[in-house]
Amino acid sequence: MNVIEAIHYRHSYRGKYKDIPVPKEDLIKIMQAGLDAPSGCNKQTTSLIAVDNPDVLKQLHSVIEPPVGETAPAAICVLTQRVNAYRDKCFAVQDYSAAIQNMLLAIVELGYQSCWYEGHITDDDKICDKMAQILNVPEDYELVCFLPVGIAESNPIHPQKKTFEERAWFNSYNQSN
Ligand SMILES: Cc1cc2nc3c(=O)[nH]c(=O)nc-3n(C[C@H](O)[C@H](O)[C@H](O)COP(=O)(O)O)c2cc1C
Repeated sequence: MNVIEAIHYRHSYRGKYKDIPVPKEDLIKIMQAGLDAPSGCNKQTTSLIAVDNPDVLKQLHSVIEPPVGETAPAAICVLTQRVNAYRDKCFAVQDYSAAIQNMLLAIVELGYQSCWYEGHITDDDKICDKMAQILNVPEDYELVCFLPVGIAESNPIHPQKKTFEERAWFNSYNQSN
């Protein structure tokens, strides 16, 4: 699969996962893809924790309510440090978003599925803080995203997207050539 194919093939997977472990080498490849992402002023504000220990996964799932990705044999938690890249400009969100997208593509390329769970864990009930505590995350980092990783039992659903013409143009707004 080339990169363009992986981009088109990737979709959010919210179904069940097969009970097959993800080898550490694959988790390392996925995390390395995340760390290879660009970052504003190369500040590299994104850090990652892969979780493949069933006891630790269980602890995480005990605080993720309602549950998501609970059958996945592994997961990657994305951490950010909201430091300024220059003057008062903080690019932490852009940095971790680029890292997450790289990881989602690597996940697909390696034959796994995932879903970008950020809204769910960063809502008012702050599931992310409970997860950070379980993973001994220091105070100056925030846990912002949870990516289950595993082999899917079913196919991801392809949501309806707006057409190319509704969102992309040439040379001027709303122009086709
Ligand atoms: C910043 C961000 C936060 C997201 N948070 C969640 C989430 O909390 N729960 C969820 O089910 N999907 C979440 N998603 C996945 C989106 O719902 C999904 O990407 C969108 O519906 C388009 O579907 P696709 O990924 O299959 O193309 C999130 C995606 C992004 C970019």
